[in-house]
Amino acid sequence: MAENLRISEGNKEEKYALLVKQIENIIKDEEDMIANMANIAAMIQETFGFWWTGFYRVIGKELVLGPFQGPLACSRIGYGKGVCGTAWKNKETVIVEDVSLFPGHIACSSASKSEIVVPIFSKHNPDNIIAVLDIDSELLSTFDESDKIWLEKVARILEY
Ligand code: SME
Repeated sequence: MAENLRISEGNKEEKYALLVKQIENIIKDEEDMIANMANIAAMIQETFGFWWTGFYRVIGKELVLGPFQGPLACSRIGYGKGVCGTAWKNKETVIVEDVSLFPGHIACSSASKSEIVVPIFSKHNPDNIIAVLDIDSELLSTFDESDKIWLEKVARILEY
């Protein structure tokens, strides 16, 4: 299972393509979503070395911190709050090139400069968001349309 986990070669597209294959492999053998989120956060970090990669799950009226890789993060985020709460509310991916310019950005770490948040939908009710995948970079403008496309593929694999 863990073979090929460390992907250091190739361009971004190649890295994502391999990452998605590995994630599909992990998911098909494991039905527990916390275990899958934990491994996916680890695999994304191993591949790209972002500042912070993790999940927040929708629990009631809040997003609650789930499996992640990186420094300490805030535990709960309200509906519509910050980048994560905005992606949840708008039901769409949010790319932030400079977090200091995003009104209401929640700074878990001052090192974070840009961010992408991708909603994960419920398989049974496509109107519902069950979690978000949040990735922070310590560099400005790290994420673009290609990250959005690939990370939305990851989110679709994770739907449950
Ligand atoms: N910056 C996020 C909060 C989560 S941390 O980045 C891990 C936000 O504004 O929602």
